[in-house]
Amino acid sequence: MGRVSTESAPTPVPAPCSTGDAAVLTRSRAELAAALAAAPGPRAVVMTMGALHEGHFDLVREAARRVGPAGTVVVTIFVNPLQFAPTEDLDSYPRDLEGDLAGLTRTLAGTDGALGLGRLIVFAPTPEVIYPAGQPAVRIAPGPIATVLEGRTRPTHFAGVCQVVLTLMHLTAPRWALFGRKDAQQLAIIEAMVRDLAVPLEIVPVDIRRESDGLAMSSRNAYLSPEQRRQALALSRALRAGHDAAAQTSGARPDPAAIRRAALASLEAADGVEIDYVALVDPAGFEDLADAGLGLPRSEPVGEELPAVGLLAVAARVGTTRLIDNTLIDLRP
Ligand code: PAF
Repeated sequence: MGRVSTESAPTPVPAPCSTGDAAVLTRSRAELAAALAAAPGPRAVVMTMGALHEGHFDLVREAARRVGPAGTVVVTIFVNPLQFAPTEDLDSYPRDLEGDLAGLTRTLAGTDGALGLGRLIVFAPTPEVIYPAGQPAVRIAPGPIATVLEGRTRPTHFAGVCQVVLTLMHLTAPRWALFGRKDAQQLAIIEAMVRDLAVPLEIVPVDIRRESDGLAMSSRNAYLSPEQRRQALALSRALRAGHDAAAQTSGARPDPAAIRRAALASLEAADGVEIDYVALVDPAGFEDLADAGLGLPRSEPVGEELPAVGLLAVAARVGTTRLIDNTLIDLRP
């Protein structure tokens, strides 16, 4: 990465193609505000923690499609300390700003090398920029969904996510904010926050991007050894087992408990995988559809008022790396 500005003028992104000044890197709130002021037209934000991969680029492409040629995509790159517990991988989380900037300009460049949209603004602040008072005094309480599944293992995680997401929503003031379905629980909580706090924007979910062998793309896949990478395929295999179980109930309504059991059995049969949870829930409220315990609020009465779609979600450790994956399953007869 080239020079990083400390003043309030955004720095043109050094790009492998001729983006002119259409792509800028901003580090401070003032730089971001200046770049936004110079970029009229519709705006979308993609929030990331960097170490960008094709899954992130799908979000960026969808953002660019929505804003159109005169619009602006803001990509935030910030490894948010508030969403990591002291025992987690904050310090070792992969960081590659230079590679991220090159990937973004490559993703958005047309055949002539110029950006295929009005502007790309990258906002890569330090923790001091996002949390100028140190630990924030006013906190977001993400509610009951944040206490189950991911929240049970990571009790402070979603409060930290909401804190930074709401802050970045205010700083970037977009019409659309795009989030991946891979973090399905995060998506449900952010949707609830935007609804409950009347945040004036639209959340756009984007589908999971997978490697050709089925592994869901994740920045944390970089931690896996070749052997662990192979073992990690057990997660997507378990989701397929859930789909297969649903497909077996031809004509009848799929049985959520049988779907969950099939996914669990598949994961239990895999080597090198330590299961955290396998759950089938309502994708919006995270109510338990399979009566699996797990501390989830129960859908009452189980099985009677099934939503049309269930979210089959798995989490497991492969070596020291904790991985998550999920899929939506049609529960209609
Ligand atoms: O999904 C992520 O990468 C992060 O949780 C997010 C939304 C960028 C907030 O830090």
